[in-house]
Amino acid sequence: MTDRRSFIRQSAALLGGLALHQNLDAAFPGIGPGPTPGGDGEEFWRQVRASFACSPTLINLNNGGVCPAPRAAMEALDHYNRMCNEAPSYYMWRILDQDREPLRMNLARLAACSKEELALCRNATEALNTVIFGLPLKPGDEVVVSTHDYPNMANAWKQRALRDGVKLVHADPQLPSEDEEAMAEAFISRFSPRTKLVHITHVVNWNGQVLPVRRIADAAHARGIEVLVDAAHSFALLDYSIPELGADYWGTSLHKWLCAPFGNGLLWIKKEKVGKVWPLLSNDKPQGDDIRKFESLGTRSFPIEMATGYALDLHELIGA
Ligand SMILES: Cc1ncc(COP(=O)(O)O)c(C=O)c1O
Repeated sequence: MTDRRSFIRQSAALLGGLALHQNLDAAFPGIGPGPTPGGDGEEFWRQVRASFACSPTLINLNNGGVCPAPRAAMEALDHYNRMCNEAPSYYMWRILDQDREPLRMNLARLAACSKEELALCRNATEALNTVIFGLPLKPGDEVVVSTHDYPNMANAWKQRALRDGVKLVHADPQLPSEDEEAMAEAFISRFSPRTKLVHITHVVNWNGQVLPVRRIADAAHARGIEVLVDAAHSFALLDYSIPELGADYWGTSLHKWLCAPFGNGLLWIKKEKVGKVWPLLSNDKPQGDDIRKFESLGTRSFPIEMATGYALDLHELIGA
């Protein structure tokens, strides 16, 4: 039975949550209505442009490292941040922390996967390092990586190799290329009976090359090899669902093509594999199969995380 104290606590949390969203609508009068849903012509794209605060002196040609967040996400960030600083423990732990579940659900809708396979983290580096350092691998196990991988991931694998005696085998596809078979073969030819995992960068940051992930993944699985995908540059840029890649592990940053505030990332792990990956930051059930075990990050910026919903709204209006 609900006692008086828990009734008051639940009601306060609910009212707090409602107040939060009502205030948000009233809080951003300067932003305007935003692009008209379903539009596509000049006027629609003018409205999209007006959704961002562009520098008057620089033309931003690099949306790769980080994309700008739309005005609505910046306003939400500012609003949540002020709110958190009015009563930190109340707003952070009782209100914003609870809103991670609806955000997880909305991101799962965009990624067309189960929300039980998505963990929110701070960037692609953290998401992918969780898998690179969390997978059980023995000395002598081989991992196929490529000469085109992002330095943070190449360094993480080098550290794993140094520490645990894992052997790195480099695929060296000739890029850029339109020959999917040749690109896939550059990876597949490096597989051996000792290969445990292949690391594939979906869109290569150096040249924009899209690698044929599904083709490599199918060949890997046929040999019992697992697949990790660096999707830092593909999520919200290319139109795909995570499951259709055929991977086992996948990580991205949301502050790139989704235009979320800086410091948002996403880790996807196939449901049946969650239990075997050790969290990078400890949790009370490190071998459990709840994806939330990867979210024990300690105190972090909840406003950054929660403002992501506003970037997601705009993304859904524009599309990939
Ligand atoms: C292919 C690739 N992977 C991973 C990352 C790391 O992203 P972050 O710094 O957001 O963790 C980047 C950054 O540009 C990248 O290009």
